[in-house]
Amino acid sequence: MSKHRVSRRQFLSYTLTGVGGFMAAGMLMPMVRFAVDPVLRAEESGSFTPTKQKVDELTSKPVRVDFTFKQKDAWYESEVTSTAWVYKDDNGKIMALSPVCKHLGCTVGWNTSKEHPNQFFCPCHYGRYEKDGTNIPGTPPLAPLDEYPYKEKGGYLYLGQAKPRKEA
Ligand code: FES
Repeated sequence: MSKHRVSRRQFLSYTLTGVGGFMAAGMLMPMVRFAVDPVLRAEESGSFTPTKQKVDELTSKPVRVDFTFKQKDAWYESEVTSTAWVYKDDNGKIMALSPVCKHLGCTVGWNTSKEHPNQFFCPCHYGRYEKDGTNIPGTPPLAPLDEYPYKEKGGYLYLGQAKPRKEA
């Protein structure tokens, strides 16, 4: 018979340490996942989604472009439809703006206010933006509309994830 016996104190100490470690791991794992998740999502943000918009059909008049992509949230995958307002500026550069108002997130429309033509207009609290997405002082939004990065592939417009504009 072995001389190495475990005392009651040692047994309790091992047991409590094991249970404590198990519980700590259970609490820490969601926190670690929460911290790492944005990093993983940042990698995903480099992807571009195809749209049905032909680049050579774009003009200086903003058009609404809807596009759908798959979004994975933990184990749940869903299809999300987003919208962009897209046009070519005076230099022929494509502008793809998010329709999400920077005040409280309503959807802005192009040229929908008779009193303020050729602007983006938010019907919720009468927020207004210039054609280039700049918020108009004296209206509720305090920042310009987000902008989508874009690519052209096979003549079609591809859009990335909308990002806040960098201040000039
Ligand atoms: S949500 Fe657009 S102005 Fe308030």
